[in-house]
Amino acid sequence: MKVLITAGPTREAIDPVRFLSNRSSGKMGYALAGAFVHEGHHVMLISGPTRLDVPHGVDFLAVDSACEMYEAVASYLSQMDAGVFCAAVADYRPKEVSAEKIKKDGAVLTLELVKTDDILGSAREVFGFDGVLVGFAAETEKLEEHARRKLISKQCDLIVANDVSRTDIGFDSAENEAVLVFPGATEWFPKASKVELAMRVVEVVDGLHGRRGH
Ligand code: PMT
Repeated sequence: MKVLITAGPTREAIDPVRFLSNRSSGKMGYALAGAFVHEGHHVMLISGPTRLDVPHGVDFLAVDSACEMYEAVASYLSQMDAGVFCAAVADYRPKEVSAEKIKKDGAVLTLELVKTDDILGSAREVFGFDGVLVGFAAETEKLEEHARRKLISKQCDLIVANDVSRTDIGFDSAENEAVLVFPGATEWFPKASKVELAMRVVEVVDGLHGRRGH
């Protein structure tokens, strides 16, 4: 199976020295890449900036902004059997990027933000992808309910929801705990290493791909 994985944060430039970003370390996405390769699959990892080493045997594309990640996914997704979208993509970016470093003159600085394109949400509708589609959901409450909404609106086969209000799982931790939300079913994955959760996702994606008759 050929699998595209997005991982890490994106950076949205404000000026030549400043950007907006988030706490994603890339650990979950890189664990997924390693687990798919371990099971003999071909992986294209599209990643925002992280401090991690690229797992052995993975095709790697480094991107910076949500817009760059969108373009990279648009180029490669049609060649894939599955897409697993784990990146913490910025939902908003500064409307204008200042060419010069913004001076700290005023007591208040207002930034105008505009919405970025939803990459996962474009997979079916815009890119016409018909492979196995897995999204993640970073939630702080009502995990299952919010994840089920994302499952439907983004036309996914699975949403892996994690609680990012906790410090022992989610962003930047070695472990995670998740609710796997499928159309018509829910599975609770107890706290374990991100590698173990990644292995469960590989199993599920493999099963879904097999059931599609490939
Ligand atoms: O990197 P780590 O430190 O290991 O942390 C892992 C994680 C917490 C980042 C990961 O487990 C996780 O939850 N990833 C999804 C983060 C996120 O952006 O969730 P969301 O609920 O805002 O987005 C829902 C889905 O849409 C995600 O699959 C996301 O990749 C995708 N998305 C969102 C916005 C956008 N513009 N394009 C997208 O593709």
